[in-house]
Amino acid sequence: MEKYIEKLRTRNAIAAGNEKEIERQHAKGRLTAQERIDLLFDPGTFQEIDTLVTSRSDEYMDGRASRYGDGVITGFGLIGGRRVFAAAQNPGVLGGSLGEMHANKIVKAMRMAIKYGCPFLALNDSGGARIQEGVDSLGGYARIFDANCEASGVIPQLSIILGPCAGGAVYSPALTDFVFMTENSYMFITGPEVVRAVMQESVSFEELGGGLIHSKESGVSHFLSKDDTECLLKVRELLSYLPSNNQDDPPYTPPADDPDRRCPELEQIVPVDPHKPYDVRQVIASIVDDGRFFEVHELWAENMVVGFARLNGWVIGIVANQPQVLAGTIDIKASVKASHFIRLCDAYNIPILTLQDVPGFLPGTHQEYGGIIRNGARMIYAYSEATVPKLMIIMRKSYGGAYCVMSSKGLGGDLLYAWPNAEIAVMGAEGAVNILFRKQVANAEDPEAKRKELVDDYEEKFNNPYVAASRGLIDGVIEPRDSRRVLIQALEVTLSKRETHVPKKHGLAPM
Ligand code: HXC
Repeated sequence: MEKYIEKLRTRNAIAAGNEKEIERQHAKGRLTAQERIDLLFDPGTFQEIDTLVTSRSDEYMDGRASRYGDGVITGFGLIGGRRVFAAAQNPGVLGGSLGEMHANKIVKAMRMAIKYGCPFLALNDSGGARIQEGVDSLGGYARIFDANCEASGVIPQLSIILGPCAGGAVYSPALTDFVFMTENSYMFITGPEVVRAVMQESVSFEELGGGLIHSKESGVSHFLSKDDTECLLKVRELLSYLPSNNQDDPPYTPPADDPDRRCPELEQIVPVDPHKPYDVRQVIASIVDDGRFFEVHELWAENMVVGFARLNGWVIGIVANQPQVLAGTIDIKASVKASHFIRLCDAYNIPILTLQDVPGFLPGTHQEYGGIIRNGARMIYAYSEATVPKLMIIMRKSYGGAYCVMSSKGLGGDLLYAWPNAEIAVMGAEGAVNILFRKQVANAEDPEAKRKELVDDYEEKFNNPYVAASRGLIDGVIEPRDSRRVLIQALEVTLSKRETHVPKKHGLAPM
């Protein structure tokens, strides 16, 4: 037996790599695949599979491709006590490049994750398609993309970009639910040399697709971390808000925060003057359990804030206008950001709380040419399609189209509330008077006095929550300090909600 065990140990040792590889990775300020796995999983729980898989090709590779494992560690283990599958690319083997067997290992782990209802994490650090394996490598990517699509909405899929991620390889992350990047990682379709040759533009890797660019400009990345360790800890935290699969509920945590706690500070945080900005994250912190909010897409489309929190221990997703950025107007990016998040919450049985204070859509040619019509429609579709509980508080402004598109009764909103200072109308008083009473104002003896009289009258008649309340378009007008208590009661009655749509192959959500 001893000699057999020795043979196995030798093979496993080859798969594990050597000191040179480890040093090379550390010199780049990054961890090795094994170190990443060790940080990510609860200690001692990770079981590797397919350790001894090897490439079937050795063209131009001088025997290096016969290295066991083929440049990727796959397996399963526990994170926060819950089962999760992962694949971590090993940049020490042919640059972490993806060949046929490397791809097969990833797809096998993904298919297991789907079958057993566990989240799948892809830790990417790779030079892309393994050049020597040609079309076998490209075919491998296609199989990964296919598995990504199959898993979409069934199990949470997280892509963690910890090094280069180039060419078509970026499309697997783009098909997943969340993309994490470090400042030291990059993603691009075409590299700097191609940009230089075709566009006569000189850009660095970082400028083209560094973690900061994708977290702030393109929105491809949902989370930015300074290094591997911070990133992997963030991954663990995100998983604590997600169910293992679409048939599970998100993890309930017994709360320490009092469900009856009043929030009088809300009356100071939100100024009554509709022109004054404030940080909606302060509102969120006041209402949710222990003030803890896990923000998604923190640096992108900051006029819309989305993320996870808990109410009396239950996970909720929050969609909130941010009045301190672009006055909280909805633009293309904000709409795309909210739509993705709403659909994600719906897929994973996470109730949605909307905190509304929105003057309308951002006007201008830039938005119209960019397709605000098509992109704004995405949010309508997402809210309408969502069958999870949909709660809302209108904190201040709720004007025009923005009223309609954000969780309104007409879109199936469940329990909707407004604070007494809320302004729910087609538009603000000034704009309405300019359109409706232009002639009366112009012909008046004292036009300014007349305008003021009409503005006051409009505000009295329309700019309040009571018209909406009288029609049952909101379910109650509440004092801001009661928000937490009222929302928890609303959430707990709606948790048993069961709603289905007319059966169809699939809808045609605007793209
Ligand atoms: C085979 C590769 C490789 C690849 C890197 N290596 N990329 N081997 N196929 N795609 C090997 C290198 O030859 C080197 O081998 C080792 O990995 C480390 O690479 P270095 O260049 O020394 O490392 P570094 O300086 O850190 O640069 C990393 C890199 C660079 C930026 C990723 O290697 C690079 O630009 N690679 C090519 C990227 C690329 O264009 N990929 C194809 C994209 S097209 P040695 O023997 O020296 O250790 C694509 C299509 C997918 O992916 C389509 C899907 C639909």
